[in-house]
Amino acid sequence: MKMNLDSILYGGDYNPDQWLEHPEILQEDLRLMKKAHVNTVTLGMFSWAKLEPEEDHFTFDWMEEIIDRLYKNGIATILGTPSASRPHWLADKYPEVLRVNEDRRKQLYGMRENHCYSSPVYRERIRRINRQLAARFDKNPAVILWHISNEYSGECHCPLCQDAFRKWIIERYQTIEEVNRCWNTGFWGHDYQSFEQIESPSSMGEISIDGLTLDWKRFSSHQTTDFCRWEVAALREGGAKKPTTTNLMYHYKPINYHELADVIDIISWDNYPSWDKGSNVARAADTAMQHDIMRSLKREPFLLMESCPGATNWKEISKLTRPGMIQAQGLQALAHGSDSVLYFQIRQGRGGYEKFHAALISHSGKDDERNYRECQHLGESLESLNGILGSETKADVAILFDWENMWAMENAMGPRNQNLYYKESVQKSYDAFRKQGINVDVIDMTQSIDRYKILVAPMLYMFRQGFSDKVKAYVEAGGIFLMTYWSGIVDEHDLCFLGGCPGGLMDVMGLRASEIDALYDGEYNTLLAVGDFLPGFSKKHSWQLSEVTSKNSDRKEDGEKGGICYRCEHLCQLLKIDTAIPFMRYGKDFYAGMPAVTVNPYGKGKAFYIGADAEAQFYDDLYAAILHMAEIENPFGMEIPEGVEVTCRENEKQRFIFVQNFNGYAIPWNPVEKYYKILHSEYVTMDSNGCLEYHQTNDGQSLLQPLESRIYMEEKL
Ligand code: GLA
Ligand code: GLA
Repeated sequence: MKMNLDSILYGGDYNPDQWLEHPEILQEDLRLMKKAHVNTVTLGMFSWAKLEPEEDHFTFDWMEEIIDRLYKNGIATILGTPSASRPHWLADKYPEVLRVNEDRRKQLYGMRENHCYSSPVYRERIRRINRQLAARFDKNPAVILWHISNEYSGECHCPLCQDAFRKWIIERYQTIEEVNRCWNTGFWGHDYQSFEQIESPSSMGEISIDGLTLDWKRFSSHQTTDFCRWEVAALREGGAKKPTTTNLMYHYKPINYHELADVIDIISWDNYPSWDKGSNVARAADTAMQHDIMRSLKREPFLLMESCPGATNWKEISKLTRPGMIQAQGLQALAHGSDSVLYFQIRQGRGGYEKFHAALISHSGKDDERNYRECQHLGESLESLNGILGSETKADVAILFDWENMWAMENAMGPRNQNLYYKESVQKSYDAFRKQGINVDVIDMTQSIDRYKILVAPMLYMFRQGFSDKVKAYVEAGGIFLMTYWSGIVDEHDLCFLGGCPGGLMDVMGLRASEIDALYDGEYNTLLAVGDFLPGFSKKHSWQLSEVTSKNSDRKEDGEKGGICYRCEHLCQLLKIDTAIPFMRYGKDFYAGMPAVTVNPYGKGKAFYIGADAEAQFYDDLYAAILHMAEIENPFGMEIPEGVEVTCRENEKQRFIFVQNFNGYAIPWNPVEKYYKILHSEYVTMDSNGCLEYHQTNDGQSLLQPLESRIYMEEKL
């Protein structure tokens, strides 16, 4: 089910429940929202106590009044289900809804997003209210989308969850013998005699069975997903026909978002980057990857459900957002496939945990506050960008980032228990493509891969069932596949492959990955080119070699003969070559001279193996060369300056090209733009009186100012 939007959603979380006794404030909110071009609010995620103050006594009138009044003023509602924060009475009467921690301590009432996902009582209570909400509000034209719960998170170890876990295990394995086999419980003689003995992992008990730990993570993720499915079903029982979403979080490890994505219609997520903490170029790249992870869950446009219109209050340090950043982060979301720019929150609360969290309307209530004016300006700008709505993101390149792989790899006691740098390794590959101005999908092992020209598998420790066959067919058919160190080590049970790694892909890679060396922090090895940087390149690609050599000339002191040389750290895998062609070798240590990076022609395709955690420059150079080989180029057909993001969306008729400068300084920018129309082009400055100035740069300036965003449009022929 898709949303039929006619404008980019603009607005955010609104908590009128905190202001019901102040009608004058609610009235003023309307004025300020309209003035800021707000067209959407999200209501009700934390309203359970006001919607059902006593068991089965529902009080929805106030909510309806607010929804209707907003609608009359041109503001639609995304309506929340209230499961994230239960009323006090509910926990008092039914303590089973409270979670039990992994150390088996029961929690008290308090905070939020911490109910038991298995509790039949909780499920029944949420079912009732969701049905009622659907019956009352789904037909209301103001309501455009259901927002299921809020930021599902955490896990519960109560007896109800233990039971549900055992049932899940029985369904999966049928017999206890099969459990023992798949979990290799013979280790330390921890074989189970019956299913009743199985308990969730605990620091007070069992953490030595990796299969148990992995399955518990799978179960907890499954149980959360099942709870969400249950909530959606309750809405549907109540007659809801509108689409659903749930707001996802930045790099949230415990829930496999690919599973959760299957039970909702539209992906949405909450984005809170720490801008100006270190390099904004790196922060923008990190944020971009999260956007692309979210977009790739359904490979469809998504919604930015929350972002901060200023400073948060929950980080260690909550820095003010510099002028222009509200616009830049909003347009960055749009660039990566969002059809909304929504904030937490519309009005700043007066008391409680989030009273100092920025909002569109701050405590002063004034419309001359900097955040308000920036938001107002962006709201106005978005109204001229509605043509972008619903346009898609096409990518020739995909990178694998897989939740189950992360769980298994990070749990295993292995070569580096300090830090494996999984996300960082994915990010390095991601950044290298993005620096070339190329769109990237970030997918998991269950998604189809045929559509891509290039597929990268960084640190794919676990091969889930069927994955190696899929890759084999992909490379055979002409795909370019790159895999790194510490890949293909275990199967889906976290049992090591026997006979060699990467399991099932040794012929495709043309090698066997054997020992892996872990380096202490601060240590490094080097990767030295063997002749050509990339064998099999035709003459016209020979520029790559000289370019690469000049780029990393500062590394020459590491190179034996002053050739091409990169540093690598953390993990170095030793390779036994079969048909693969090594083109980089280790430069140091007892394995100096042994192959480190290889390519293997296989079928119509090529399979690259990157044996060590190489520095970013290595990825930048290698991927630039591979993109060239695959004939993939950015829309400008030119080198993209560092710190500038180039991202495309398109529909049948038009292509939209976003260019954003995340450097703190101006950057020369001289593309051949004759076919492109500029839709939006602006940067913001502030004078010493605190006045914001918006500078239009439509006349093709040859500099991109700090935080400038330009949006080009190309009519397709
Ligand atoms: C100790 C234990 C062994 C084994 C090794 C691993 O020596 O006695 O059972 O766990 O550590 O290094
Ligand atoms: C999360 C929550 C919101 C709010 C914000 C504050 O995203 O979903 O309710 O607490 O954080 O940044």
